[in-house]
Amino acid sequence: MDEMKRIETAAETVIAALGTAEIGVILGSGLGDYAESLADARRLAYSDIPGFPRSTVPGHAGMLVCGTLHGKRAVMMQGRFHYYEGWSMQDVVLPVRVMRRMGVKTLIVTNACGGVNLSFAPGDLMVISDYLTLTGVNPLMGANLDAFGPRFPDMSCVFDKGLRALAHETAKAQGFSLQEGVYCQFPGPCYETPAEIRMARILGADAVGMSTVPEAQAARHSGMRVLGISCITNMAAGILDQPLCHEEVTETANRVKERFKGLLDGVITTMI
Ligand code: HPA
Repeated sequence: MDEMKRIETAAETVIAALGTAEIGVILGSGLGDYAESLADARRLAYSDIPGFPRSTVPGHAGMLVCGTLHGKRAVMMQGRFHYYEGWSMQDVVLPVRVMRRMGVKTLIVTNACGGVNLSFAPGDLMVISDYLTLTGVNPLMGANLDAFGPRFPDMSCVFDKGLRALAHETAKAQGFSLQEGVYCQFPGPCYETPAEIRMARILGADAVGMSTVPEAQAARHSGMRVLGISCITNMAAGILDQPLCHEEVTETANRVKERFKGLLDGVITTMI
């Protein structure tokens, strides 16, 4: 099906079921239950949205939840689509485009990732200042969707400066501080090798993960403001003398989730 038609068809179903929203939030590993904080929430399973892929990662519910948070209309994704699951990059960003159709102007993207910067520690939260991608693919490849944005979108400031400053101020007011750095996307699903992590560090990465970049690209293409916040769930491969495992990632994400949710709440409350 023509991509524009697929987006419009999905958006029609979503808007009929959930209404519109001004803020979109993509909830990464362990954060899914933040959607429970929405008042007057309405839910829609991805499996009930025509053209939507199905979330296959354990711990990702596969649900869009829309409601009110501190007087603002927000839609949250419980579960996202990853390139490593075998979806196309257009599949990965379909929800972002549907959110844009819902009226979303600000997208908050969250994730779990590995720390590359040696001054980071598991459990730290990091404001994403910029991205690097080593996937070699881009969701904007193919015919440009002129209804969303230009053929050659500017990416010189993907992550909104004002929102980044607000995240830092909010954390400070809540009694902790945030790291800030460059997020580098590898395709996954294997964790990186120590050599890849040394390469990423030389290239300027502070953290590595398997998501977020395509969503941020599609959001910027369609003119949204983007805030990215990562949870450093583990030190990246080869930094510590221990193997990496998904359990460590979910364990740290769970340990930090109350602080993470508090930060999101504070940012959304004060955001203009
Ligand atoms: N690498 C890639 N993705 C990740 C990691 C990591 O170390 N931790 C959590 N997601």
